[in-house]
Amino acid sequence: MSIPRSFVEQLLQQCDLEELVGRYALVKRAGRNLKCLCPFHREKTPSFVIYPENQSFYCFGCGVGGDAISFVMKAENLDYPDAIRFLAQMQGMTVPEEGQDDQALRLRNRVLEINRLAARYFFDNLSKPEGRPGLEYLKSRQLRPGTIRHFGLGYALPGWDNLKNYLLNRGYTEQELVAADMVKRGKKGGLYDSFRNRVMFPIIDIRGNVIAFGGRVLDDSKPKYLNTNDTVVYKKSRSLFAFGFAKAAGKRKLILTEGYMDTIAVHAAGFENAVATCGTALTAEQARMMAGIADEIIIAYDSDGPGQTATRRAMNILSQAGLTSRVLKMEGAKDPDEYIKKFGDARFGVLLEQSENVMDYQLEELLRQYDITTSNGKIEYLRRSAALLAEVERQDEREIYLNRIAKQLDLGVDTVRSSVEAARNNRSRRQQQQLFRKVAGSQAVNRDPVNPEKARFPKQVRAEEEIIAYLMEFPAEIPKTEEKLPPEYFVSAFNRRVYQRLLEGYHQGETIGLGLFHQTFDSEQCSSIARMMAQGKQLTLSQEQLEGCIQTLREYRDRLSGEDIRQLTARQLEQLRREKAQKRR
Ligand code: UTP
Ligand code: MN
Repeated sequence: MSIPRSFVEQLLQQCDLEELVGRYALVKRAGRNLKCLCPFHREKTPSFVIYPENQSFYCFGCGVGGDAISFVMKAENLDYPDAIRFLAQMQGMTVPEEGQDDQALRLRNRVLEINRLAARYFFDNLSKPEGRPGLEYLKSRQLRPGTIRHFGLGYALPGWDNLKNYLLNRGYTEQELVAADMVKRGKKGGLYDSFRNRVMFPIIDIRGNVIAFGGRVLDDSKPKYLNTNDTVVYKKSRSLFAFGFAKAAGKRKLILTEGYMDTIAVHAAGFENAVATCGTALTAEQARMMAGIADEIIIAYDSDGPGQTATRRAMNILSQAGLTSRVLKMEGAKDPDEYIKKFGDARFGVLLEQSENVMDYQLEELLRQYDITTSNGKIEYLRRSAALLAEVERQDEREIYLNRIAKQLDLGVDTVRSSVEAARNNRSRRQQQQLFRKVAGSQAVNRDPVNPEKARFPKQVRAEEEIIAYLMEFPAEIPKTEEKLPPEYFVSAFNRRVYQRLLEGYHQGETIGLGLFHQTFDSEQCSSIARMMAQGKQLTLSQEQLEGCIQTLREYRDRLSGEDIRQLTARQLEQLRREKAQKRR
């Protein structure tokens, strides 16, 4: 699935990164560059810099960088070709789809068509006599006609081949139906519908494409839900049910539920910022998707045991994505759907308002673990809760909890405070030690997952990076540099690849910029190249300094390489030996 390079170049030329980023964050001028709060991680002071000159960006906080395409891939959670289509649509350009190359693209489109038709078909079944059971079921779940339409819910009839025949008659091939996972191939090779006698929940992406389905039985049989497996248009781990609606709601807060019915009930109750994972535990990718549009997540999982475990797990994953979480405390109902039915929309709203922050939640969990009517229980609870409180950075916040714990344990506030202070001191000593270790072992400082050789060759790798940054900015210097410094002179494999691609792009007359790298480097690697460029801008190397970097690499290579030594003449060898002997003295 290849999109012509010339088109990508043209597209990148037309895009204005400032305008693009401006749709996601408030961009402010800072000298020649622009700055804003990073849309990809949470921060209070802006470390996301846009360089209008070369249309690149880099976040000094989280290390994400790239060009307009990288930005869209990340912000909209799209792959490379989709990001290009997204940008093209924004610019009012049409992506030329190439002849034989677009097999995969064609299949994608066919699968999307199949999904759309299937969703329509399932929906239409609700108004047919044979679809009665589906409609009755949805009604029994108290779903209004408007809600059913809004979510495009439907019903898969009980037979084995209703959808299959419907789609075959419309010209879709058996292979395409299997690729969409709408039909399955049986042991004897026959095809049958994947979903039968189930109410259907289409999963729709932010662009309005139907990408998958969940289907629920009408009774208590098992499995309760079936979900589309991953296909060319669907990755379970990268999708959230109702994400598009939640995004459109435009709040910086999301409500995370465990299932389709919960999310629908929450939307129907007037809170349109709810999403659900679709038959998987929360993934880091889903958390990052949420972090792209929100700062805070209210976890509204089931109130049962597994729900509690999942809540704890989700809190971790969300916090790693830089999100704050709160936990909904539901009493008298097992999940949001049931709660709303029992107590009404308004009460659920109050519950949302009262959702607990992580500290409240953790303290309550602790309290449940210990019997604080006994001395031992008291001591343990005090110790564990003091350790939790030690992590709270704000003093006023700490005081509130101090008081609460003191009351619970019937102790003086000062006693609790000194436990917390002790825990804090312990903690800061530990942090000091960690910091020390980090600085002492320069290995840690130079650790770079994209370029692991940086730890071993910090000086050479820095020189390589400066050369790359320089040449990206002054491509006219490429031929001269190439002459003095063939790619073999690069010490680290990653930078060598970058350099080679840069030379290749130059010789083929491609535009020198980050656009060169998308197809052969992943997004983390592109971020790393954007970092080199951003650091290069800070350094503003002179030509002499570039020369110095080139020398650094040449010297290293000349000193090490046995290959080169073999090529030396006898006289040169003699001289080398003398030099070495002299140095030793
Ligand atoms: P639950 O069993 O909690 O169902 O599963 P629910 O959401 O309360 O559904 P109702 O109210 O009984 O209709 C939560 C989620 O876990 C996934 C589904 O995504 C479901 O929405 N799940 C559950 C499955 O994928 N397969 C199953 O068999 C069960
Ligand atoms: Mn339920």
